[in-house]
Order: sequence, then C-alpha cells, then structure tokens
Amino acid sequence: MKREILRIRGGRPLFGRTEIRGAKNAVLPMLAASLLTPEPVTVRNCPFITDVDDMVCVLRALGADIERRGRDIIVSGSPSLTEIPPHLACAMRSSVFMLGALLAERGEVRLFTPGGCRIGARPLDIHLDGFMRMGAKVEFAEDYILCHAEKLRGAEIVLRYPSVGATENLVMAAVKAEGITRIIGAAREPEIVSLVRLLRKMGAEISGEGTPLVTVCGTGALDGATVTPVPDRIVAGTVMAAVAVCGGRVELSGADSSSMGAVISPFLGAHTFLVEHGGSMTFESDGMLSSTDVCTGPYPLFPTDMQAPFMACQCYASGMSTMRETVFEDRFSHVGELVKMGAKIALAGNTAFVDGSAGMHGAELRAADLRGGAGLVVAALGAEGESSVSGVRYIDRGYENIEETFRNLGGNIALESVTV
Ligand code: UD1
Repeated sequence: MKREILRIRGGRPLFGRTEIRGAKNAVLPMLAASLLTPEPVTVRNCPFITDVDDMVCVLRALGADIERRGRDIIVSGSPSLTEIPPHLACAMRSSVFMLGALLAERGEVRLFTPGGCRIGARPLDIHLDGFMRMGAKVEFAEDYILCHAEKLRGAEIVLRYPSVGATENLVMAAVKAEGITRIIGAAREPEIVSLVRLLRKMGAEISGEGTPLVTVCGTGALDGATVTPVPDRIVAGTVMAAVAVCGGRVELSGADSSSMGAVISPFLGAHTFLVEHGGSMTFESDGMLSSTDVCTGPYPLFPTDMQAPFMACQCYASGMSTMRETVFEDRFSHVGELVKMGAKIALAGNTAFVDGSAGMHGAELRAADLRGGAGLVVAALGAEGESSVSGVRYIDRGYENIEETFRNLGGNIALESVTV
C-alpha cells in the first residue's frame, strides 16, 4: 500500500515571500451561502485544499452547478436535494453549514451522522436550539438529524457559547426568515464578518457582525454576488511559527494584521520583528524564543487553530511555557508526537506545560488532525536531523501544498510516496 509522507530535514532558516490565500473558514460557509440564490455567486482567491474540494462535491451532490476558474469558484442554480449524502457528511464537518442554507432555501434538511463519524461527536445543540427558536422542528434518528420548517420566523436567540458555525448557520437561516432575528452572544470571528459581507452583497439586511449582537432582517429573494474572502490568518500564523523556530525573514503577502492581534502578540519579543506594509506583513526572527503563556478562546482571543503550531514554538523557547486550551476538549493529539522529538511536555487537564529547555530532534511522526499536523511540520522544520510526518491528508485539508510553501522559503521538505 502506498502512503504519502513529508520528509523534513530541520535547521534551515526561512527567507522569501509567500502568498496568503482566502481563509478556509470563510470560503466554506460562503460556498454554503451560495445556495441561498439561484444566481451565480463567485468566491474569489480560494485555496486549493481538500476541504474546499469536498465542499464543492457536497454542493454538486445537492444539485448546484459549480464552475472552477483558477482560484474562483462560481456556484449557481438551486439545490434539488435536501439530503447531504452520508459519505460526504462524514468526510466533512463543514457540511453542517448546509443546515442553515438548506433550511432557509428548501425548508428541510437531513444530515446523516453515521456511527463512529466524528461529526456526531461534536455537538450541534447551539445550531439546533437556534433553528427551533425560529420555528423549525428537529428530529433525531439513529443516523441522521432532520430539520424542517414550513416558514422560518425571526426570533431572539441567545447562544450559550459563541459558536462560529452556529452563528454562521443562524445568520444564513435568518436572511430568509419572516421578520427580525437577533443573535445574542454571537461569535465575532473575521470569517463571520466576511460571510456577512457576501450576504449583504446578495441583498440581505444584516448589522452588528463582528460584535456579540447580530441583527438580521429577513428578506425575500437574494441576488448573485462576487466576494473575496478574508485572508487566512491561521495559515499566516503557521508560517510565522515556522519562521520563529527556524529563524529568517518572510513576507506574508496578502495577510491582514488587523484581524491577527492575538495571533501575532505571543510571537513578539526581543528576538522577533514585524513590519506591516499595505496589504502585507513581514516577520523576522533570529530563532531565539522566550517562554510564553497562551490561552485559546473565541475571537478576539488566541485562536484554538493556532494552538498546535504555536506549541511547536514553545518547545523551542527557553524556560517554561503554558498552553491552555479552552475551546475544544481533547485537542492535544500532537503532544505525544512532539514528545517523540524530545519535547518535555506535561499535560494537566486542559493545560500543557512545555519546558523549552529540551533539544528537539527529528522523529517519525503521525499527524492525527489538521492543525496538529501543521504543528508537527513546524516542529520538524526547526529540529536537528530528519523527521517524517505521515497523515498528510489531514494537513491537505487546510494547507495548500505545505511542502511547496516551505521549500520555496528554503526549508528542506519533500512529499514522498512510500510503500507500507
Ligand atoms: C470553527 C472553525 C474551526 C475552529 C472553531 C473555533 C470553520 C469551518 N471551522 O469550527 O476551524 O477551530 O470554529 O474557532 O469555521 N459547540 C457546542 N455546541 C454547538 C456548537 C459548538 O457545544 O452546537 C462547542 C464545540 O464543541 C466547541 C466550541 O463550541 O467546543 C466551539 O465550536 P465552534 O465555534 O462551533 O466551532 P466550529 O464552528 O465547529
């Protein structure tokens, strides 16, 4: 059997320029929102990643017409089905975005959650409570959830937690509901603001995005529109993490520092340097990192998606660092792999204590999720000796050609096909 691995020889500084594309987490809900109109919706500057490919498959399976022109994805036509096929729902957590869009557009949606599929393990109660507040009925069967509503009504919805996906789903449902919806305790992520920008271009009436109170005034038919999503702050942060451990100077072309305050601040210290210049930023590090205490949280706090890439930096920082994960339970799958590289990490509940005094060396590593995998690549780029990282398919979900990105910057990294 053939398997892809990343072969990485660490220790080379990174120099040059890399282009930051549209954020995965903005592109995915935008593609779902394109189902709210039969008119063409064009999402520009999309990254070539498998999560986007899978989303395109879901849209096609539902009956939408999709055209890909370079990095532009154009969606038109109306969904003819209201069922997200089980194999696609299982492959992609983001098919949950179809709940809001299909409920609004077709009045019904069935999302399969086959046994053992990770989608079922992550709760959807905030999404579903919101739909019910808007008059939808929700039925739970053994392997699917069915939501239906003859007519959605505007409602006051209080989120018990600022869930990104629930905020997006409820906004999408509310744009076609009768009357006004108020989402109280909404998530504030820049990707949500980007989605609202698209919906507004389509003719929706929404205010308050980027604040905890989002108000949506339901409208009838929506138009087509063209949108450029916000740049991917997690990809930009991952490249910064690699520069921090390897040393070097990299221009992140297209990155937007204005939404990256919490991502950037733990990187800043006596040995790093950041320059912002119109539509770009350049990050420089001499590879001498100091210990930091970081805690993840909803925007504007430090993003959970940067937890693993930044923990890789903490393994190289002198002294004791801490990383507290408050958004997801069980998001430390990379810790055991970092330990194989020589890292000294102790886990206590949701906190990792990282003693950066250990020397990091190459090892045989296995990525078990997208961001954890990116963290292992960062760690291996800084380590002495050779590493291999398997589980590349997880990394491909959110990083476009990660090996090419780092090779172009001077990293010694190659994608290999090995027989196992
Ligand atoms: C989105 C991002 C993901 C990021 C996460 C948190 C996309 C495609 N994915 O995921 O990359 O890591 O935000 O920034 O945008 N929760 C519930 N009930 C719900 C919904 C969520 O308990 O109904 C919990 C989750 O289990 C988790 C927390 O709320 O512990 C945050 O989840 P949420 O913000 O919904 O994340 P996603 O939208 O799935």
